[in-house]
Amino acid sequence: MAGKTLRLALFLFPGYHLGAWRLPDAVPELDLGIEHYVRAAQLAEEAKLDALFFEDQAAVRRSNDILSGDTYGAANPRSIHFDPSMLLPALAMRTTHLGLAATSTATFNDPYNLARRFSTLDHLSGGRAGWNLVTSFNEDEAQNFGLDSHVEHAQRYRRAEEFVDVVTGLWEGWEPGAMVRDKEKGVYFDVGRMNFLQHQGEFFKVRGPLTTGRSPQVRPVIFQAGASEPGRELAARTADVVFTLQSDVVAGRAFREDLRRRVERFGRNPDEVKVLVGMTPIIGATDAAARESAQRMRDLIPEDLAVSNLMPLAGGYDLRQHDLDGPMPDLPESNAGKSHRAAILDVARRGNLSIVETARYFAEGSYLKVIGSPSSAADTMQEWLEADACDGFLAVPTHFPAGVEDFTQLVVPELQRRGLFRTEYTGRTLRENLGVQTYGGNR
Ligand SMILES: Cc1cc2nc3c(=O)[nH]c(=O)nc-3n(C[C@H](O)[C@H](O)[C@H](O)COP(=O)(O)O)c2cc1C
Repeated sequence: MAGKTLRLALFLFPGYHLGAWRLPDAVPELDLGIEHYVRAAQLAEEAKLDALFFEDQAAVRRSNDILSGDTYGAANPRSIHFDPSMLLPALAMRTTHLGLAATSTATFNDPYNLARRFSTLDHLSGGRAGWNLVTSFNEDEAQNFGLDSHVEHAQRYRRAEEFVDVVTGLWEGWEPGAMVRDKEKGVYFDVGRMNFLQHQGEFFKVRGPLTTGRSPQVRPVIFQAGASEPGRELAARTADVVFTLQSDVVAGRAFREDLRRRVERFGRNPDEVKVLVGMTPIIGATDAAARESAQRMRDLIPEDLAVSNLMPLAGGYDLRQHDLDGPMPDLPESNAGKSHRAAILDVARRGNLSIVETARYFAEGSYLKVIGSPSSAADTMQEWLEADACDGFLAVPTHFPAGVEDFTQLVVPELQRRGLFRTEYTGRTLRENLGVQTYGGNR
């Protein structure tokens, strides 16, 4: 493939579209067993996707005050999911090339545990592990970790900056060849090639090294998605892949340019940081059929669920104090994640949408909606790539299995026919397939 090619990841979250899980053929209860996850991973791998990704929030969403009996739209499907770090090792056993990535927050974890978990996954998968570093936008997580309210935004990012340095330091704690396992001499590892991190900072005191030795990628791939000012700085300094919420090609290009400038400022090669735009593909045999399907799913979204879903994304602001058919008010700044507030205001203002229309848009997914035939979807993706507005996409299908099958079996083959996506894996590790920096995995 001579020209530019896409990086593609699949975000599996069957309850993500707040209506599609009600379709007769949708399987919303992936939690019934591992086989559905395996099937999704295999579909992703048959399509030669770079990675399968799972999000994570360690709290049921509380858009309004359920504790005091306000249950308006509270039964949100997006609240329900496994701990993905437990799911990925199982999927590693049933796949061979697919990258396996999951969120783990820097706000409510300890770096030693997290580094060890992803290092273990990297070993088990033969170099396919990825970690999505977030600072947690769901304000309710704090209440499951001994706090009454969320950690302050700037402090979350200061902690994340130190956290990632500890994690990467731990991953690099073992030099190549340290695990000699010399049966003749009875020497298991070479103490001279083991390094104590001896980190001491504002938040953490960690001696090191890890109990897991040096993993195939050395550093599992680091994903990030915070678009606030400190979020971009952290990503520019440390991320390999950046997920972003962009609904417009011009804004997408500006975001990518901004990030690449920052990456360069940190002395890194911008070509080794991949920007993946979140997209929700809704595919039909024709554009008209896809539009009908989108409408059918939209009609299945309960209004109270849509509005209550938007409230925590809007920083916990109670939108019910306004006429829901009226315009979106100026949302006050809050201590929640900043990216969503900006995206909500952007979508509402750009489309001149009412509160309820904006809520429906986000209930279908926060991402760019790509609605059309496989060839129209490929046209959109090609346009974004050629406009330098992305390096690829994070596809978030509306439901499983049909939404996942449509993307992997209809859209991806069209991209492959156009020479925009690989037809075989060429790398051994996730880093190699993505084309990001490698660290020499000699164990
Ligand atoms: C594709 C994508 C996936 C995300 N996954 C998670 C997640 O699993 N958990 C989480 O707390 N935040 C997640 N986020 C949110 C951000 O990574 C970030 O933590 C949040 O936007 C707050 O940062 P900000 O204040 O810089 O916007 C995700 C964002 C995107 C675009």
